[in-house]
Amino acid sequence: STHDHLFKLLIIGDSGVGKSSILLRFCDDEFNEKQASTIGVDFKTKFMQVRGKKLKLALWDTAGQERFRTLTSSYYRGAQGIILVYDCSQRSTFEHVKFWQDEVRKYSTNQDAILMLVANKVDLPDQQVTREEGEEFAFANSMMFIETSAKTRQGIKQAFEEVVFKILDT
Ligand code: GTP
Ligand code: MG
Repeated sequence: STHDHLFKLLIIGDSGVGKSSILLRFCDDEFNEKQASTIGVDFKTKFMQVRGKKLKLALWDTAGQERFRTLTSSYYRGAQGIILVYDCSQRSTFEHVKFWQDEVRKYSTNQDAILMLVANKVDLPDQQVTREEGEEFAFANSMMFIETSAKTRQGIKQAFEEVVFKILDT
């Protein structure tokens, strides 16, 4: 076999928070200032070497736009890790995190799914959500937390590594 473990990860959050950009940075080490909004669902794979094991990650990139909601909800099934992203330069996307959590409760069939809250776009000068607010929300809701920038690479690799370590330890 080409790998020791296959993990299904899902990335969710409002449109424009940078979900596709995070995956593009993680998988291909690229960044696109004019990244196109996702239509429906995209799929990427990534191999990772962790603790001497070869992992294959199946990464499902969902559209944040509301008109795709019915379609994207069917992809929650069986995900071992869910990455919930907000844009720390857009307060409304942080306020919608509760909405996305409800979607997870409704559609994720895996009780043990690992949840990671990601504050993306930390590189931008005008921050509307503090790190403390993000951390507090994550802690109160049993989620992991990390700040990232798909643009500068900050936290990107670490976000996936931490999710994978947690899945391996659960
Ligand atoms: P949908 O597919 O519509 O759900 O959006 P998305 O969450 O996939 O967002 P996308 O990756 O398309 O990024 C939206 C815009 O934000 C693009 O113009 C990106 O270049 C930009 N962007 C994404 N991540 C970052 C970041 O970390 N920093 C900065 N400055 N811009 C970012
Ligand atoms: Mg997208």
